[in-house]
Amino acid sequence: MQRILIWDLPTRVFHWALALSFAGAWLSSESDRWLSIHVFLGYQTLGLVVFRIIWGWLGTHYARFSSFWFGPKAALAYLRQVLARKAPRHLGHNPTGSVAIYLLLALTLVVGCTGFFTLGTEEQHGVAAGWMGITQGWLFKSLHEFSANLMLLLVFGHLAGVIVESLLHKENLVRCMFTGTKLADASDPVARPRAWVAVLMVVLMVTFGVWWFSYALHAPLEQQVRRPADQLTATEVAFVGPKLADNALWREECGSCHLAFHPSLLPQRSWARLMSEQKQHFGSDLALDAPTTAALLNFLTANSAEQHKTEPATKIDLSIRAGTTPLRITETPYWVKKHRDIEAAGWQSPKVKSRSNCGACHLDAEAGTFEDGAMQLPAP
Ligand code: HEC
Ligand code: HEC
Repeated sequence: MQRILIWDLPTRVFHWALALSFAGAWLSSESDRWLSIHVFLGYQTLGLVVFRIIWGWLGTHYARFSSFWFGPKAALAYLRQVLARKAPRHLGHNPTGSVAIYLLLALTLVVGCTGFFTLGTEEQHGVAAGWMGITQGWLFKSLHEFSANLMLLLVFGHLAGVIVESLLHKENLVRCMFTGTKLADASDPVARPRAWVAVLMVVLMVTFGVWWFSYALHAPLEQQVRRPADQLTATEVAFVGPKLADNALWREECGSCHLAFHPSLLPQRSWARLMSEQKQHFGSDLALDAPTTAALLNFLTANSAEQHKTEPATKIDLSIRAGTTPLRITETPYWVKKHRDIEAAGWQSPKVKSRSNCGACHLDAEAGTFEDGAMQLPAP
């Protein structure tokens, strides 16, 4: 018996990078505040799986699919042998482990692709932005969450397999995935290190990371939040929403007393009523002449909530009961539901003053996107 190389370096880099990316993506899925990180890890995971599929043909002996091309029958047979404690030792993947590997690779593709479409639809971000509507996005989101949960289950199965196999053959398989080596007969095939491929992988991942975070976090944020970069704090790093329709006349006429509420926050009939009642606008007379009123109404109705351009617009629109025409965003059922849990102290903060002062808590209120990641309650 002698110690020989089983797992080439690229396979090990792949393995640990995938494990870390999956764990990180899982942890960052809780809040949209970490969406940039989550999406970065998602793209990285997809890239890693594509690499692994190519490496299944071009890799060294034990990394190739041909060396662990077992089907479900062989997997079950091996499982029975394990239960009988008679399972033979495999230098590469055993038949049960092989099937888990194939399922993991396939599921990673499903999780990655549904994530890609969830981002493009529900959030209207990234490459797939605009390909489909927001309501279709909810289907992708369900599939994304379901497949990710399935994958977590499979990961636990894989870990259980590693522990059982390690105990059964009295060798530390986790260590093997670091060192790449195992004790074997002189006649067993030996893997090649292929270090240059691993170096290339690391360089690509780091380059992608640097590019991603400089793109996703910095340049567009300053435009969206409409604040000079030096006034932004680290927690204000938001995920940038889709660019919404803008209009200079509307900003001037509707943004002088309060935030210019983006048209996507109310349906057409609400804007029509607000403009027809502009002489008694919450106690003020807006005193707009006819052409200005018409131009404003035109812009407001053309970009109303019914357009479903953002997630809040879609949800506000769907939450309003037919036959009702709210005059306030803050009276729509969706808005009420989302702000129900804010304690009285939050509203009484001198920085907030009114419920309609959206900008006190939403850094992207001017842009109208109301991304989860751009939310920040003012310090009490
Ligand atoms: C003369 C000042 C003034 C101007 C100009 C003005 N508003 Fe208002 N608006 C108010 C006041 C006051 C309120 C009530 C604010 C509050 O309750 O905190 C209000 C509230 C609103 C609300 C409801 C906000 C909520 O609570 O959800 C909407 C929508 C709105 N305005 C739309 C517009 C539009 C559209 C224009 C441009 C045509 C406009 N406003 C121009 C004074 C103004
Ligand atoms: C006192 C701070 C505060 C003010 C003012 C405020 N919000 Fe919010 N808003 C929040 C908080 C906190 C949440 C998150 C609630 C949650 O997710 O449980 C939220 C959630 C939302 C969401 C849902 C975002 C999402 O995708 O989950 C929308 C849309 C929204 N606010 C719009 C508005 C609008 C429009 C205004 C002004 C008319 C406004 N908010 C005023 C604090 C505020």
